[in-house]
Amino acid sequence: MVSLASARSTLFMSLVMAILLVSSAANFYNDFDITWGDGRARILNNGNLLTLSLDKTSGSGVQTKNEYLFGKIDLQIKLVPGNSAGTVTAYYLSSQGPNHDEIDFEFLGNLSGDPYIVHTNLYSQGTGNREQQFYMWFDPTKDFHTYSILWNPQHIVFSVDGIPIREFKNLESRGIPYPKGQPMRLYSSLWNADDWATRGGLVKTDWTQAPFTASFRNFNANACIWASGKSSCNSNMTWYLDELDSTSQNKLKWVQKNYMIYNYCTDTKRFPQGLPPECTA
Ligand SMILES: *[C@@H]1O[C@H](CO)[C@@H](O)[C@H](O)[C@H]1NC(C)=O
Ligand SMILES: *[C@@H]1O[C@H](CO)[C@@H](O)[C@H](O)[C@H]1NC(C)=O
Repeated sequence: MVSLASARSTLFMSLVMAILLVSSAANFYNDFDITWGDGRARILNNGNLLTLSLDKTSGSGVQTKNEYLFGKIDLQIKLVPGNSAGTVTAYYLSSQGPNHDEIDFEFLGNLSGDPYIVHTNLYSQGTGNREQQFYMWFDPTKDFHTYSILWNPQHIVFSVDGIPIREFKNLESRGIPYPKGQPMRLYSSLWNADDWATRGGLVKTDWTQAPFTASFRNFNANACIWASGKSSCNSNMTWYLDELDSTSQNKLKWVQKNYMIYNYCTDTKRFPQGLPPECTA
């Protein structure tokens, strides 16, 4: 026996819950524009899933409607399964114009069973050449994993499933440019890069396997949105003052020791005149 009053209050509570769930769930329709790929980028499941695909004719891509000036961005990605050699799935923040800033994740595909490379780079006021590359401690094509970019005035942190893999500190006090004056959009795309992506371009894309598809869900931008020359921040700003605590620093060391396969900061052949200043700071 359910009284009318309690049935009403149950209905009311379900409505409240439904509204709360809707407002907190990421929705690709609200947050992203499809920018290229002629139907190869698709938003599905009421906005909860985004897929990008690539075939011989074209890849595809999206960008956020908003521009951000600092934030913590999370996105779950399931990379192209099977033979993904030659393909690159990109996920990055970038400003526009010359002397742009950019914070990049690029996932370089491989033959079935061979490891993906997670390639990272960072441009500050037009200058990049700051690559670090990693293998993952899991197969990134089997499940969704969370890839995050934290960008605040102190540092930039790339993380995977909450484990920091790379940190770039603000060393402006030593004359090293730091990205902090240009708002950035988030972009994601899937494209063919078989001239360099897999084993340096030795392994080409096998087009008999096309279309290649990467999937995305649970986009979350805990960030300051930049609009009409003003920044408006989300009420939860815990990320803004974030520094790596000792537990996170230990995780970062673990990843760099066991999974880092390239670091521009140790590439003395590439920088015969001396390593970039942030490497020795
Ligand atoms: C692909 O697999 C080969 C062989 O294991 C490896 O050397 C390479 O780093 C892997 N990843 C890419 C993107 O080339
Ligand atoms: C604030 O955001 C952090 C992640 O950036 C999250 O872990 C925490 O739960 C949030 N707190 C509140 C009160 O929403």
